[in-house]
Amino acid sequence: MKKTLLAALIMGVVAAPAMANMQLAQKYACTACHAVDKKLVGPAYKDVAKKYAGDKGAEAKLIAKVKNGGSGVWGPVPMTPHPSIPDADLKALVKWVLSQK
Ligand code: HEC
Repeated sequence: MKKTLLAALIMGVVAAPAMANMQLAQKYACTACHAVDKKLVGPAYKDVAKKYAGDKGAEAKLIAKVKNGGSGVWGPVPMTPHPSIPDADLKALVKWVLSQK
């Protein structure tokens, strides 16, 4: 009984980060314009990750971009600003986007 509980706990901890970030993306309606592997209104998160692979400044740059919105990198359509998302959540979202493969 104890072992099963422990195993469930460990699995929960391992599976939680990816889930939590998908839930964040849904919570903040990023998923209205973005999907992981196909272009919707905005670029696929996989394409974003590919574009910034190896770019050390990407995390800070993209956090600011999501917060302030803007256009011109992927096309003329602007992303809306998201000024009310807490920085910790913004950081988690951007890290998650950049970790897509
Ligand atoms: C209204 C639609 C819309 C919503 C909602 C939206 N995005 Fe975007 N997003 C876009 C568009 C359009 C672009 C491309 C902007 C450009 O070409 O510069 C983009 C670009 C991006 C980029 C790449 C930026 C760059 O400069 O390369 C990231 C990262 C991103 N979005 C993350 C998010 C996250 C995280 C959320 C949720 C908090 C979100 N987006 C919500 C439309 C949206």
